[in-house]
This record gives sequence, C-alpha cells and structure tokens, in this order.
Amino acid sequence: MKTETTIQGLSASLSKARSSRKTIGFVPTMGNLHEGHLNLVREARNLCDVVVVSIFVNPIQFGPNEDFDSYPRTLDQDSQLLAEVGCDIVFAPSVEQMYGGQSRLTNISVSDITNDLCGAQRPGHFDGVAVIVTKLFNIVQPNFAFFGQKDYQQLAVIKQMVADLNMPIEVIGVPITRAEDGLALSSRNGYLSDEQRQTAPAIYKALKNAEAELKAGQALADVIANIKADLVANGFEIDYVEARTPMLQTIDQFDQDVVIFVAAKLGKTRLIDNIQVAFVV
Ligand code: PAJ
Repeated sequence: MKTETTIQGLSASLSKARSSRKTIGFVPTMGNLHEGHLNLVREARNLCDVVVVSIFVNPIQFGPNEDFDSYPRTLDQDSQLLAEVGCDIVFAPSVEQMYGGQSRLTNISVSDITNDLCGAQRPGHFDGVAVIVTKLFNIVQPNFAFFGQKDYQQLAVIKQMVADLNMPIEVIGVPITRAEDGLALSSRNGYLSDEQRQTAPAIYKALKNAEAELKAGQALADVIANIKADLVANGFEIDYVEARTPMLQTIDQFDQDVVIFVAAKLGKTRLIDNIQVAFVV
C-alpha cells in the first residue's frame, strides 16, 4: 500500500491504473477508522481494480463551535487497518495541500435537502462537504465512490450533486455497520463516557421499535412521538426525530418507503442514526 500526501504524488501513483483503464474505487474519510469505514473499503475492494482511501479532516465542514481541533487524528493506526483490508493507495493531504494557494471563491450548495435535518443545526456543513468531495473527486477521478448510509443525508446530497452536475462517477451507498449492541459505529462514539456508552444503543432500540410499530399499523406521528419519549426518558437531548421519503421529502403517513432519522445528544456528544422501513402493500 502506498501513502501519498500531495496531489501530484497521487496523480503519479494513479497514472498507470488510468492508462490501463483499471476501475478506480474511492472511499473519502476523515480517518480514525473503524469497521464502518473498513466495510466501505471492503466493498470498494470487491468492485474495483484499484482502491483509494482519502484521510482528511476537512476544516470547512466544521462549524466554529464544533470539534475540528479535537477530531481524532490517528494516521498510523488507520494506515495499518487499511493495508489489512486491501487498500492500494491512502491519500492523506495537509490542509495547505487542499486549500493553500489562491483563495477559494467557488462554493457548491445543494439546495432544499440540506436545509433541515443535520443542515439546520450545522449551517454551511453540507456546502463544506460538497466542496471537499468535489475536489477529491476531481483529484482521484474515480469510477465508483462509496459512502455510508450512516450519514444518510450526506449520501443523498452527494448523489444529488453528482446527478445535477453530470459527474461521471457511480455513487454507492453502503449499509450502516453497528456494534453488537446496535449502536451505529462512529468516530465520535469515543467521546462517550462508559455510562453514556451503555445508554447510547437506546437510539437503535427505539428505531427498531418504531419499525415494528409501523409494520403493526400504528400512525407515523405516534411512532415518531414514541421515539422522542423513549429517548428523553433515557436522558438524551433530542436534536430531531423525523420521517422522510428515501429522497428526503417530507412524509406524514406510512404509505410508501420511509426513513426515520434521529439526531440526539448524550452530554456533549451528538449521535445520529436512521432506519429505512419498506412499505409493503
Ligand atoms: P467520516 O465521518 O470519516 O465518514 C467517512 C465515510 O464512512 C462516510 O461515507 C460515512 O457515512 C461512513 N461511515 C461512518 N460510520 C459508518 C458506519 N457505522 N456504517 C457505515 N458507514 C459509515 O463522512 C465523512 O467522513 C466526511 O463528511 C467526508 C465524506 C469524508 C467529507 O469530508
């Protein structure tokens, strides 16, 4: 496995693959990798000839009061894990490499589907994601790019952007990887105290419970109210609990496939999760 820290170095490493028309699979990450990330890389490994993983904590997608400075940076450990799952090239550029040079005047803003859910609490976040993902797409020029359904809204935003701007890339969504007790794996789980870590799986339990209630015919509004009550009773501070169509349109009845989204805080740590429930006539 090679590690490249410059755009030029990466291009040189990829030039042979490009000229021999090998398929390039790309997994963008911010590092501090866990099994959730590694499953994206495994998926890329299965589908593509060459697998590139980027590790870059992107400053422009963090708000002023968010955890950019304290975000865990564990490149050595990440590199070892990536080598084990068959990654070919790690791209780990500096902030200077990605944003140095002349000042950036171009923004990429995907409207409507970025205004609410995580977008409401994190103004500018999805613009920051869209910009860095576009830059990385242009640098790596992959055939396939892999994103987790854990960040469902992010996946929807990237799919929309790729379609709107005719980016010649196939975006593949990969199911959420969970701990044995159901908690969706996340780099931010490391911020939880032991006690909070014990409580955290209540989110997935509430989502599974909601799925059962929907299938049993309970009204969507009641099901959402039950999730909220359940989380509050477990000591969460709720950011949102919302139901949407898979394309993120609002929905008030379970008469088509639905995705239920939760964002909730335990202490200072904000956790997100979602579940998709298929509508069967
Ligand atoms: P990061 O949070 O490091 O996540 C990288 C990728 O791993 C994302 O596509 C995310 O959805 C996926 N992922 C994380 N936890 C997962 C889990 N438990 N199951 C499945 N997939 C999971 O998302 C970002 O980085 C950044 O916003 C990025 C796209 C790299 C742009 O900076």
